[in-house]
Amino acid sequence: MSNQHSDALVFFGATGDLAYKKIFPALQSMVKSGTLNVPVIGVAKAGWNLDQLKARAKDSIEQHGGLDADAFAKLSSLLRYVDGDYADAATFAAVRKELGAAQCPAHYLAIPPFLFEKVVEQLVQSGCSRGARMIVEKPFGHDLASAHELNRILLSAFPETSIFRIDHYLAKGPVHNMVSFRFSNSFLEPLWNRDHIESVQITMAEDFGVQGRGAFYDQTGAIRDVIQNHIFQVMCNLAMEAPARADSESKRDEKVKVLKAIPPIDPKNLVRGQFRGYLDEKGVAPNSQVETFAALRLEIKSWRWDGVPFYIRAGKNLPITCMEIVARLRRPPLTNTNDPNSPQNYIRFRISPEVTVAMAVSVAASREGGEPEEVELVASRHARPGEMEAYQRVLSDAMAGDATLFARQDYVEEAWRIVDPILKTPTPVYVYEPHTWGPKEVEQTAVPPGGWDTPQPEQQDDYRIVNKTQ
Ligand code: BG6
Repeated sequence: MSNQHSDALVFFGATGDLAYKKIFPALQSMVKSGTLNVPVIGVAKAGWNLDQLKARAKDSIEQHGGLDADAFAKLSSLLRYVDGDYADAATFAAVRKELGAAQCPAHYLAIPPFLFEKVVEQLVQSGCSRGARMIVEKPFGHDLASAHELNRILLSAFPETSIFRIDHYLAKGPVHNMVSFRFSNSFLEPLWNRDHIESVQITMAEDFGVQGRGAFYDQTGAIRDVIQNHIFQVMCNLAMEAPARADSESKRDEKVKVLKAIPPIDPKNLVRGQFRGYLDEKGVAPNSQVETFAALRLEIKSWRWDGVPFYIRAGKNLPITCMEIVARLRRPPLTNTNDPNSPQNYIRFRISPEVTVAMAVSVAASREGGEPEEVELVASRHARPGEMEAYQRVLSDAMAGDATLFARQDYVEEAWRIVDPILKTPTPVYVYEPHTWGPKEVEQTAVPPGGWDTPQPEQQDDYRIVNKTQ
């Protein structure tokens, strides 16, 4: 079954937000690129009919990427709709009927995890699970115990090789760029370890708040929303060893090895923040202690990374939207390491909104008698590919049975193990002003040696003079 292409796509949650923002536009792109030519069965409980679903799909695509008349006409002809309750066997009998002769359907659960068990049971009882693949959306659990439970439910009906846990970060081109930059440049490997790297910092900043998702976000917080999944994936790409082979399991094995080497995060190494105004958001509890910002330090206890601190910070309502990684190299001998302005080489990957790979090097002063200057050599820089591509890619890959871009059971559980103590231990939540870099308490607890780099809007020239503002 593993190489067989799915011959139907069933997506639960067809009238929901994710379908509207991401799935319909991705489906149109898949039709356009020729990767989707099978029935697409939307399922939801909304009292709708097929025409209403088609109208919703049209509106969604117009709002998110634009309609392509031919591709949309084709997508419309592939669309089917089943309306009904997920607890009702009749809903699944209708799905079964729509599946017709399909041998390898892909069931995509774009629904809240508390519904997974019900849907999986019904898929089994109705015969819809035979030969099928299961694609599941994040959040995959809310802690280690719930992730175990979700895995138990899914694995009771599907083998691991048929389960595709989405993390859309894995499908972003720039996230792959990091891996190819690491493994296709032989100059990098001798530097990429504890002998030369002093610290690594990963910033995921968003200059907007919770955008009407207060009810979801207040059950989630920054650690669960983006650190345990998106940022950890990026960190694994930075830290992993070269896979022994190019197949999906060899790659996923290396990522899991990174996580296995990370001890649970000590709550002492975490600072949580909440932007002022969060409590006024719709759906947020009046006394919510949920973090919209987190900065933390962790360690990877491996031969390559032992002793190199990894710093992570993520937050809503920060000064800029970007994801950036800075790996600082140790200073050369005989430099004054106490001087924060003394030059320090680094390698910088920007993943969004632009895609940049750059290296900071120290050069002689451009003016007579001046101090050496640090400039960036930019290896590559280009505009960000569209978000839609990520969903197009994950859905196409899952339907083709390629698991490389999906989180495996052991990976997901290791990731929860690492954050479990900081989710379970109540720590203070400090208020920060919107459009600042989080609460001032970060300064005492979670600052990389040499400070946090302040991500800047990218410039168009080939190098930048490093701005040491923080
Ligand atoms: C989602 C989170 O998974 O990722 C959001 O729920 C976050 O809170 C988003 O904004 C970021 O994704 P991207 O692709 O826009 O960087």
